[in-house]
Amino acid sequence: MKNEILMERSHYNADVANVSPGQTVTVAGWVRKRRDLGNLVFVDLYDRSAVLQVVFDPERNPELVDSASALTRETVLTVRGKVSSRPEEALNPDMITGRVELIADSFTIHSTSALPPIQMTGGPESNEELRLRYRYLDLRRSEMFQIFNVRHQTYQYVRSFYVENGFIEVTTPQLMRSTPEGARDFLVPSRLHFGSCYALPQSPQLMKQILMISAFDRYFQIARCFRDEDSRADRQPEFTQIDVEMSFTSIETLFAIHEKLFAGLFKSMLDLDIPTPFRRITWQNAMDWYGSDKPDLRFNMKIKDVTSIVSDSGIGFIDSVAAGGGVVRLVCYPDGAKLSRKQISELENVAKKRGANGMLAVKVTDGETISGTILEKKLSKEKQTLLLEVAEAKAGDLLCIVAGDRMTVSEALGDVRLEIAGRENLKSDEYEFVWVTEFPLVEYDPEDNRCYAMHHPFTAPMEEDLQYLDTDPVRCRAQAYDLVLNGVELGGGSVRIHKPELQQRMFAALGISKELAESQFGFFLEALKYGTPPHCGIAFGFDRLIMILAGTDNLRDVIAFPKTLQAVCLMTRAPSTVTDDQLNAVGLQRKPNSESSKTTKQN
Ligand code: AMO
Repeated sequence: MKNEILMERSHYNADVANVSPGQTVTVAGWVRKRRDLGNLVFVDLYDRSAVLQVVFDPERNPELVDSASALTRETVLTVRGKVSSRPEEALNPDMITGRVELIADSFTIHSTSALPPIQMTGGPESNEELRLRYRYLDLRRSEMFQIFNVRHQTYQYVRSFYVENGFIEVTTPQLMRSTPEGARDFLVPSRLHFGSCYALPQSPQLMKQILMISAFDRYFQIARCFRDEDSRADRQPEFTQIDVEMSFTSIETLFAIHEKLFAGLFKSMLDLDIPTPFRRITWQNAMDWYGSDKPDLRFNMKIKDVTSIVSDSGIGFIDSVAAGGGVVRLVCYPDGAKLSRKQISELENVAKKRGANGMLAVKVTDGETISGTILEKKLSKEKQTLLLEVAEAKAGDLLCIVAGDRMTVSEALGDVRLEIAGRENLKSDEYEFVWVTEFPLVEYDPEDNRCYAMHHPFTAPMEEDLQYLDTDPVRCRAQAYDLVLNGVELGGGSVRIHKPELQQRMFAALGISKELAESQFGFFLEALKYGTPPHCGIAFGFDRLIMILAGTDNLRDVIAFPKTLQAVCLMTRAPSTVTDDQLNAVGLQRKPNSESSKTTKQN
């Protein structure tokens, strides 16, 4: 063993696989494993490219073998030695370097490691809390490096794609003005402007629209976004978007460009041919057929409407739902008649969780009749046959029927549909992209007795629905679209309002007074007056995209230092309390928790 003299690395481990036996190389990395076999010592040396077997052989250098006992797990060293072909019985086709080994001549230990508290290789993965606490060790695992390599390559692909298509990359500020009409902002108190705060951007929405006013024409940015909302599995408080805005163009062009982007990216990263153009479905159809605005099209199982077949048959609850303008709908569970009572009641609970009063489970006996429920007694034979025809059911299937208002029924059956697909493994291995279009412009919130923008308040209504904007905005559809992939909302965007008068009408429809609009968005309304081109845009969740490309279902796996569901970084323990001096400097005082106020989207 040498004192710490830095021997310069000549090869990454993976490259040693291509070196001719007999040649001397210098490699460096971490000890993954050491095995002492009689006199011989084998060390698995890890670097980001591969694991390489290093052999300490007493016949070549007995002193070296003695000092090799210091090579405990995760020790950092540089080794110089001779590349040798492995004997036939020691070949390992599962390793990139499985045909060779390095016979050590000398090595330098740079540092040693405390016993790693997480599983570094082999065996079951350690629990996530521990992995996040020791994230530097977790990231040292090759599985994790592979994910970040996918992320890195995707950055490069995306950047050059936009550049090739005439987009200019612009960095917009991280210290912004707070716009309370959105999700909750992260605030940054200002020291120089005592009592005032910046806000971290929820997205660069207004800045990118302003860049269109500035004649930038085609903009993109791989943008950091911050939203102080309750965490969910598919959300992080700090995340990355591929953010895009374009002037003087149409939805058609925006769709075509992005179909080219994703088809090219999936070809390059996964060697897959994604058919284009992508499918399209209106929001209303997505809700009616799949019970979701992010339909998973890897399996069919459409929701079917049977209101007209089952109403007026003397079934009390169905007749009253139909009379009240509600609907009766079903999904057909293939071969579901085999389900036990318990399994059926679990399925019913899925529907109930989404607000359904209950779910009628009807077994299909012979493809023409049904058995075991009130429907069998009350429905005529003809109606039973018609019901099965509409349901496209066969003998042995189970009809899952829900009655109620249209939205509740859709959402409940949407969840039942997903549950069935999960239980029965119905999802194909395909990547099913779909554009969901014609979203509602606004949503009515009965609690606040006002409307909120479904996408954001800068989204243009559809031309043909403009007539309802002032009187019945809930009837308006928006020129808004999402890109959905296998049930994941990958991105969303819209054609924007480019006329100040229409923007004012939109604010009015949202119950935002002229004065309030002026005080919150005055800078933007002012900018709109100075020659705004028609423009549209979109933003994609970069982390969600990487999740899909890397084949993981955990968003935290694709973010180097993510937050937990409680929005905590377990490694640094952020957020942390700060000193009174720090607070005083920005004019803040500690107060007991006060209830936070309700806000909605403006991203
Ligand atoms: P939106 O809010 O729909 O639109 O966001 C666009 C996409 O960003 C991803 N995303 C998230 N990913 C991880 N964690 C989060 N908390 C999170 N929130 C959103 C999703 C989503 O589809 N400015 C508009 C876009 C536009 O109109 O151009 C916007 O931000 O994949």
